[in-house]
Amino acid sequence: MQSSQFLAGKIALITGSGRGIGRAIAIKCAQLGADIVVNYSRNRFQAEETAEIIHSMGRKAVVLKANITKEEEIKSLFNKISDEFGKLDILVNNAASGFNRPLVEQKITGWDYTMNVNVRAAMLCSQYSIPLMEKAGSGSIVNTRYMAVELAPKKIRVNAVSPGMVETDALKHFAFMTNKDVTSRTIANTPAGRLVTPEDVAESVAFLCSSSAEMICGQVIVIDGGFTLIVPK
Ligand SMILES: NC(=O)c1ccc[n+]([C@@H]2O[C@H](COP(=O)([O-])OP(=O)(O)OC[C@H]3O[C@@H](n4cnc5c(N)ncnc54)[C@H](OP(=O)(O)O)[C@@H]3O)[C@@H](O)[C@H]2O)c1
Repeated sequence: MQSSQFLAGKIALITGSGRGIGRAIAIKCAQLGADIVVNYSRNRFQAEETAEIIHSMGRKAVVLKANITKEEEIKSLFNKISDEFGKLDILVNNAASGFNRPLVEQKITGWDYTMNVNVRAAMLCSQYSIPLMEKAGSGSIVNTRYMAVELAPKKIRVNAVSPGMVETDALKHFAFMTNKDVTSRTIANTPAGRLVTPEDVAESVAFLCSSSAEMICGQVIVIDGGFTLIVPK
């Protein structure tokens, strides 16, 4: 890879970057020289903490609230980015939430919320980022695969990361819902012998956003310490 500041001059929006994996990605991109848009929905304090860490590294960070289940809030988020920076180089569709329920207990409101935050928002944020990436001359989106075909001619590369289990608030919620010790079971079945960390995910995201990944387009990097390999016992 190039110099340690290979994202210098880049503007990166990481949705849901107040905590968890999003925070680690924001900090990694800042370490590599990018200025960061820290987005949050409910937890302003944690978003401010992420921004403080980034400021202490000598990089710019703006904290912008937007509930990405609402298109008008996404639109306003991108208008603010346009006013502040005039362009966007990197979009990481990281924010996620949802109502984990067994099929027979799922309700339409919970289903719609889950689809809106996890799927529709990625589509909308990607749409809104295109004009700002065109102003930047190129761009990189990390989330889902097939946009890659449509956006490659605009010099916008789209890739995805697919991490194994990462210990964040989301996992605590999942373990509570299932009432099972998913952590020790996962470690026992991971050839690398430990869980994936937010920093492991951030390293791969930063690589995908760098010019070292210029010809990587429409790929999914699995970051799971070998969990999905078939391992003879
Ligand atoms: N943890 C894992 O094991 C794991 C494994 C594979 C993939 N992933 C993926 O990695 C990403 C991050 O996961 P995580 O474990 O870090 O999750 P997390 O700890 O639950 O954090 C979720 C983040 O999303 C934000 N968010 C939630 N709803 C939002 C909304 N409506 N609008 C804007 N932001 C919203 C939250 O912001 P607030 O703090 O403001 O609520 C928070 O920053 C997700 O896409 C997840 O699917 C996680």
